Amino acid sequence: MVNNINELISLGSKYLKDKHIQSYKLDTELLLCKVLNQTRSSLLLNDSKNLNKSNINKFHRLLKRRSKNEPIAYITNSKEFWKSNFYVNNNVLIPRPDTEILIEEILKFYPQKKHKSVLDIGTGSGCIILSLLKERTNFRGTAIDISKNALKIAKYNAKIHQLDNRIKFYKSSVDNFFKGKYDLIISNPPYISSLRLKSLDTDILRYEPIQALEGGLDGLRIFIKIVKRSSMLLKKGGKLVLEIGFDQKLKMLNLLKKEKFFVNKSVKDYGRRDRCLICTKI
Ligand SMILES: C[S@@+](CC[C@H](N)C(=O)[O-])C[C@H]1O[C@@H](n2cnc3c(N)ncnc32)[C@H](O)[C@@H]1O
Repeated sequence: MVNNINELISLGSKYLKDKHIQSYKLDTELLLCKVLNQTRSSLLLNDSKNLNKSNINKFHRLLKRRSKNEPIAYITNSKEFWKSNFYVNNNVLIPRPDTEILIEEILKFYPQKKHKSVLDIGTGSGCIILSLLKERTNFRGTAIDISKNALKIAKYNAKIHQLDNRIKFYKSSVDNFFKGKYDLIISNPPYISSLRLKSLDTDILRYEPIQALEGGLDGLRIFIKIVKRSSMLLKKGGKLVLEIGFDQKLKMLNLLKKEKFFVNKSVKDYGRRDRCLICTKI
């Protein structure tokens, strides 16, 4: 019976490859790391080690989940974002590399020493606000989400990153949130149009929470609420930083102008598509 790490990597990789999982080798290694609660480097440095029966069974169960296209982040309950790992499960969107553009841009606007109050709308795993709080020790955070289960995860992440004393969480839809005045509001809301939603990969559609993805007929339903509410929740001169879909810039500019926001900057992703807007309340 196959029971050493090296052989299990070959066996698992072949199994996932046959199931058309593109990242079959890396995923197999990550699943073994999860089973053994080890880092990848320690796994690969000790690849002649044998696994006991119970761990082998666990490994087979995880392989089976991955073979059905369940995202590796949900199986391992972990996703790296910016400079940290965040706990994730299928109650939250898996943090995306594109969202790191927001962090990069905000850090350029706010030097280390400034005290700022920040609101994150639709916090999900908490990856954006918690990454910012880590980078800027004078920032205080507030995070809201309509999903009770997502908030549980965000609170857990705040605890493991030892930031729970600098952030408050509220279960609220953005249109019903009236608490506080903020220097900065950030959001990566659900912005995929109902039509485009149908064309997403099955692993996204089947496993990620629909309320983290769908933004109504034109994808702008939550943006409209965010922009309206932000114009009340922001201090004068405060900034609103939004992640947007690649084809939403023009509509968003109209919406922001109507609510009296000045657009400072539009930032493109590595594919040269407009994905982030930085605006000021005037
Ligand atoms: C695209 S996910 C973003 C999660 C996280 N901020 C990130 O960037 O990975 C959007 C989040 O907004 C939340 N949400 C959806 N509608 C909302 C609303 N009306 N008010 C507040 N949060 C909302 C969803 O539950 C989800 O967690």
